[in-house]
Amino acid sequence: MGQGRENWSGTLGFVLAAMGSAVGLGNVWRFSYITGEYGGAAFILVYLGCVVAVGIPIMIAELLIGRSTQRNAVGAFATLRPRSPWIMTGWLGVLTGFVLLSYYSVVGGWVLHYISLSIADGFAGQSTEATKQLFATLSASPALQVFWHAVFMAVTIWFVARGVSRGIEWGNKIMMPALFFMLCFLLVYALTTDGAAEGIAFLMTPHWDKISAKAVLEALGQAFFSLSIGMGTLVTYGSYLNRHTQLPRAVLFVAVSDTAIAILAGFVIFPLVFTFQLEPNAGPALIFETLPAAFGQLPFGQWIALLFFLLLTFAALSSAMPLLEVVVAYFIDEKGWSRTRASWVFGGVIFAVGIPSALDRGFFGFMDMLTTNYLLPVGGLLVALFAGWSMTHTERQAEVPARDLSSGLYLAWVFLLRFVAPAAVAVILLRSMGLF
Ligand code: TRP
Repeated sequence: MGQGRENWSGTLGFVLAAMGSAVGLGNVWRFSYITGEYGGAAFILVYLGCVVAVGIPIMIAELLIGRSTQRNAVGAFATLRPRSPWIMTGWLGVLTGFVLLSYYSVVGGWVLHYISLSIADGFAGQSTEATKQLFATLSASPALQVFWHAVFMAVTIWFVARGVSRGIEWGNKIMMPALFFMLCFLLVYALTTDGAAEGIAFLMTPHWDKISAKAVLEALGQAFFSLSIGMGTLVTYGSYLNRHTQLPRAVLFVAVSDTAIAILAGFVIFPLVFTFQLEPNAGPALIFETLPAAFGQLPFGQWIALLFFLLLTFAALSSAMPLLEVVVAYFIDEKGWSRTRASWVFGGVIFAVGIPSALDRGFFGFMDMLTTNYLLPVGGLLVALFAGWSMTHTERQAEVPARDLSSGLYLAWVFLLRFVAPAAVAVILLRSMGLF
């Protein structure tokens, strides 16, 4: 086992790939609109708590399960605990891949549409009302949305069918820093606009009365979504790792940069929201209504818009590929399919599953709610229980030795896995189901 399998070129290659999967539409599009809906600063603090207490421990756990078995998400559980129900955790991950990617690709399609608008210089000199209308027009056109959804999915399939490609690893190294610098540039602009003070206050002054059980559930779901956990992606990524990589360090790096990019995006979006008198709780439309208004005002706005949406497309693709890869790897490893066939067949199925999300915003919301509030947290809960209770100290310490995690931190990690993460997920799930 493990022979002839692919491996990351090294820790750096792995960390970049994990960042590529983590940094995506979740950081810019989803984080900002959810933060807007749940009132800003207080929500962000809850989110940070979720990342530290639940997200990071589960990230380490997923990697450890993958690296110790050198198998995909389903095979890993089957190897560690043969003929046990734990294998369902892997299946759940594959199912989640279908659901998540189906509507993720619809949003990817919106971004592509905005590239075409930038090329046509559709934002220049437009009033806020007019730029808002651009999104309304897109929403009202099933043909346009399905078309761009198809294009986004086709590009994703094409890359995945070619194999865990060199192209994307190389692209990550260039495009990720470029996206970061682009956000910094936009930040400087956003902070000089009239709404800056209001935007910053929104992000920095907590209003705890806005935090309900539902808000906490959303924060937890967003943490799972943004860190790409709860569906076996990191199990798969860990399976391509060798012993030299220190898991806790790598995880810390990925989690911190993912969170930093989301918060940075918030500091770009919210000053603009208040400058252009938009509603922070506009929902999934938020960045598509806000940013074009700003691009329309900026000198060279057309080029800045084009560059920004290109980089966002890249971030979205570098997340969409691993999502499809979770599904494809399962059918290759466990069912003996060829990579090309698995990519096109299941990419096609996911495209079809996504069509209702493109046509109906209610269905879109349902798929998103199902994924972030239920599928990912339940997947994460199972991983935490498995790594916390079913695995032994010896099994865990073989992957996370004292060299990588001091004994105090090791105990804290196991404590978080055993008690804090499961309790947090369970309580929030039960509350949201109205059970108490
Ligand atoms: N983290 C990605 C984003 O923020 C979305 C995502 C969730 C994902 N789970 C994943 C990407 C699994 C790849 C693999 O956009």
